[in-house]
Formats: sequence, structure tokens, C-alpha cells
Amino acid sequence: ETIDWDAEAAEKGGYDAYMQKEIFEQPQALSNTLLGRLHDDQGSVELDIELDPNSFDRIHIVACGTAYYAGMVGKYLLEQLARVPVELDVASEYRYREPVVTDRTLAIAVSQSGETIDTLEGMREAMRGGAQTLGIINAKGSSMTRELDHTLYVHAGPEIGVASTKAYTSMVSAFLLLALWLGQQRGTLSKEEVARLVHEARALPRLISEALSDDRLGRVREVAQKYHQARDYLFLGRGVNNPTAYEGALKLKEISYIHAEAYAAGEMKHGPIALIDEHLPVVVVATESRLLEKTISNVQEVRARGGRVILILSDGDTENVQHAEDVLYVPRCDEMISPIVNAVPMQLLAYYTAETLGKDVDKPRNLAKSVTVE
Ligand code: G6P
Repeated sequence: ETIDWDAEAAEKGGYDAYMQKEIFEQPQALSNTLLGRLHDDQGSVELDIELDPNSFDRIHIVACGTAYYAGMVGKYLLEQLARVPVELDVASEYRYREPVVTDRTLAIAVSQSGETIDTLEGMREAMRGGAQTLGIINAKGSSMTRELDHTLYVHAGPEIGVASTKAYTSMVSAFLLLALWLGQQRGTLSKEEVARLVHEARALPRLISEALSDDRLGRVREVAQKYHQARDYLFLGRGVNNPTAYEGALKLKEISYIHAEAYAAGEMKHGPIALIDEHLPVVVVATESRLLEKTISNVQEVRARGGRVILILSDGDTENVQHAEDVLYVPRCDEMISPIVNAVPMQLLAYYTAETLGKDVDKPRNLAKSVTVE
């Protein structure tokens, strides 16, 4: 398929790339995800799905690529807020590993396109075992939305850039809604706790706009330029932001072709610590969290071995700057919504690194927007 240059430029609406446009569309995309579902006045969540919140006692999450990392955040949120045990698999493993499924299983597919064959086949496997199925999907009327019992649309709008950005943050937001709703319906969260988190979540579009302010963009670009010749990158995170590290590494690999690995911060000492030297940039998600101190002690281990620490810190954290060579600040927010805000500097770091290296971010080599073959 060829697109006329002028038509394509017009479609990008003044941006250099679809990916860039979609990064900047996130405040709107998240407004759409949350619209009509969060009721700040009543302090409650209402979902447009006919799922009985008490009809299952375990959840299986199945997805590929970026959607899998959204599912990883989903696992943390669902277990923490709704206290439902969750298993998470990449779809190509799930469909063949003979998962133990019962009629009390809720199988959740996460997919931007709703067409990824491995994810669809994973759902068919779950259905054969008697599971109820729910899709967290962006594309309207896609195969998955037709086959699954329930669809929670993320409403991010069309995503064209191969590297997923707004669909990711919208999927994570949809998981936040689902976890809050289940916590509310199943009574694992108090009314006050639901109301507090609903209020926090309502601020997401504004927080994302703040995360995209000109001064922050400038900072990320400087960091990207400083390290663009690195051969490898390491990303670390913990808890609900462990997936943020994985997603950051994936974004960088996909569009800049720099090798990047992610690890749970606490697991670093069991292997990757052997790789740390003065050539290795290490991006650490160290925003406000009950486990921040533990993350900072991991950071000190990196520093002691000469690693180049790039810290993602909450606004106002001047204490931990001393442990970093570079700092990227993000707006302060509740830990439960922070994976959505923290995804932004990850996307920008990948974007500006690819830009510095002269790569075509919308057409990364060997990748397709949706994979409908095994
Ligand atoms: C492809 C894309 C990835 C995407 C994955 C899952 O590999 O290159 O960016 O995350 O498919 O796609 P889905 O449409 O199921 O979310």
C-alpha cells in the first residue's frame, strides 16, 4: 500500500511521525477511556459490560507485545485492589501450555487490534476449558470483540504507529477501571478507598499533559542524545512499575534498535549486575512508592559499579537526585496510577533516541502493526 506524501503529512497533523502524534494524543485518549466510567461525585466506578463480578475466582490474562506489559500492570492492580489471583501469559505460550481453566475462570485478552492470532487462539483455548472471556480492546468490531463474551473498549482512537503508545496507556487505564470496579463490587476496597482512587484517576488526562510539558520534553531529549551511542540499556522497576521498565525496554528496542533489557529491580543482583559498567545507562523507575527505599538501594548497587543511572523521580523529590547522573521528573500521583504517567518518559526516551539516530520510527524494521499469522 502506498500513501500519497501530502495525504500522509496531512494525516500526521503537523507532527513528524504518527508515533509522536499518538504520544501527544494521550490526554484525549485517556479522557475517552475514563469517560462515563468514573463518577467522581459518587466516588464510584461503572463499567459498560455485563460481567457478573462474582462469577469467577481466578483470572488469566493473555496478550502479546506491548499489550502483554499492559496485562502485567493489570495483574498487579487486580491482585492488589480486587484480591483475585491472576495468571499472566504471553499468548503463544498460553495457547499451547494446557492451562488449567475452569468455569470459574475469567480469561482476559488484551489487544490493540483485536486481531492478533496468538491472543485469539489463547482465548479459544480458554473457552474450550469453560472460561468466561473479556477483551480489553481498542479496535471496534474486531475479531476478538465478536468472539469474546465481553469487551471493555479502551477508546484510544486509531493507532497507526507500529510502536504502541496511547493504546498502552489506555489499556493500563482500562485495567485500573476494572480493578477498581471489581474491588468496589466484591467489597475488597472500602467506599473511601474507591472514592479516593476514582478522584486520583480522574486527574490522569491532566497528569499526562503535564508529563508532556515542553521543559520535560527538552530534558528527555537531552538524555536521549547523551546516551544515543550506548550499545545496551538496562531498565529497572518494582511492583506495579516493574512492567513500566519492561515496556520502556521494548519501546527502545523496537524503534532505535539499541539492545535493552528490563529486570525487576530486586532481581538485578541475581545476574544482570555482572553487566554493569561505565558504558551502561540504567533507567530506574523510582517514583513515589512504599518500596522506594528498596529501589534506591538497588540504584546504589548500580552506581557503586560505575553504571550511568537515569532516575525517573516524582516532582519534588530532591532527596534522591544525589543517586542519579540524570533525572527525569514526572508529575506526582498515587502509586496505583503511576504506571500510566511513568510510561510517558519511556515513550519519549525511545522516540528521541530513534530520532537522534535517524531511524524511521513509524516503520521499524521487521515489525508489523498487527500479527495475524502464527
Ligand atoms: C505486534 C506489534 C506490537 C503489539 C503486538 C500485539 O507485534 O508490533 O506493537 O504490541 O503486535 O498487538 P495487539 O494488537 O494484539 O495489541
